[in-house]
Amino acid sequence: ANAEVEPEAEAPRTTPGANLEEDSVPIGMANPANCIQQDEFTDWYFRVTKSDHLTKLKAKMKKICDKSGIRKRHFHRTEEMIGGHPEIIDRAVPSLGARQGITVDAAHNLTAAAASKAITDWGHQAADITHLVVCTNAGAQEPGADLRLVGLLGLRPTVRRTLLFFHGCSSGVAALRVAKDIAENNRCSRVLVAYAQAELLLFNAPAEAHMDALVAIALFSDGAGAVIVDADPASPVERPVFHMVSASQTTLQGTKHAMVLNLNENGLIDSHLSVEVPTLVRGSIQRCLADSLAPLGLPDVRDSGRNGLFWVVHPGGRAILDSYEAALGLDPGKLEASRHVLSEYGNMSGATIIFVLIEIRHRRQGGADKERNDCQWGVISGLGPGVTMETIVLHAGSRLDENY
Ligand code: CAA
Repeated sequence: ANAEVEPEAEAPRTTPGANLEEDSVPIGMANPANCIQQDEFTDWYFRVTKSDHLTKLKAKMKKICDKSGIRKRHFHRTEEMIGGHPEIIDRAVPSLGARQGITVDAAHNLTAAAASKAITDWGHQAADITHLVVCTNAGAQEPGADLRLVGLLGLRPTVRRTLLFFHGCSSGVAALRVAKDIAENNRCSRVLVAYAQAELLLFNAPAEAHMDALVAIALFSDGAGAVIVDADPASPVERPVFHMVSASQTTLQGTKHAMVLNLNENGLIDSHLSVEVPTLVRGSIQRCLADSLAPLGLPDVRDSGRNGLFWVVHPGGRAILDSYEAALGLDPGKLEASRHVLSEYGNMSGATIIFVLIEIRHRRQGGADKERNDCQWGVISGLGPGVTMETIVLHAGSRLDENY
């Protein structure tokens, strides 16, 4: 990364904001081994759900997959697992228990793998983590994913845990916001943020009455991510990659109906995703982002300032990224990191943002699009039910001038 190593004496509590830490790279990501190519998904899905006779729906699913911008996705569940639990494809039979039984352990173990990588590369011990923020939809039980991770990672029993449960895709950015607040208000804290998602909660057989469910099944996938956040990096071991300068949350007006997560005895299969979402986003994203950036004195996203930023956008779907690009007038390629993650992994809900951060970091280091991403300031943006928009303004490196 382009981050400068700050001498410890100058690594200031006075610096506003918290850091996403890097040593070699204390950001971890992991995916299940089971991978399905998107151009084979429709056949797979209609076979597994015994729905090959629904030819019109199958053609529609193929069209959605073709236009999804996704090349492949990874999943915890396999054909055999679904075959062993017919209730998963039968709306008339409760299936929450089966869905959780199949994925919870796998999701938590995958998150532990991503977090272990982050901790190992950080260069300190798991016992040096003071706070844990876990963002998950896997496992509606208590003790939950947070305590599970404490055991799997060997964190101290005194680690202060926060569980963000069922916030949808914007939770990826919300967890970073919470970690920033913790790091800035607890001297010498080291906050591990970890994401565990379970796509099987929304898997179901195709049905004409649930077209939005078809879209969700074409986009969502499984993955885990983890990152370490602090506000006072100890040089030379800790080298911040990005500095989180400000964090904000807002809801897009008139969109409460558009994205709804509804957990019941069948998991999340009765959730709702309006076909209007990309249009609604397009209509209000510019003003919302301008409101978040204005207090920092950064160039207005409504003028050419938007192209002087690097963009870390949650790829909720190809059309969502198109909406950002069109509404903000972004140069072609500005969202390439998000599009790449969408293509290679699909939408892994909250965990996705970690994958985009890793991809942006790689591009800034000299990978693809170095020039396009080589800006000092950047924006993380994610959308979830509400429609809620979470925004974090980033500065590359650890420290800002007082008069930024
Ligand atoms: N509900 C029902 N049908 C939908 C739909 C939806 N939400 N979105 C698209 N469709 C239908 C279209 O009406 C169209 O149907 P017809 O063939 O009958 O006309 C069909 O899907 C294909 O649509 P298009 O030909 O217009 O193709 P497209 O260019 O729009 O691509 C897509 C399809 C890939 C699904 C694209 O629309 C897309 O990316 N949409 C955004 C999906 C979205 O909202 N993602 C957010 C996920 S939620 C999230 O991230 C946060 C969270 O917390 C859960």
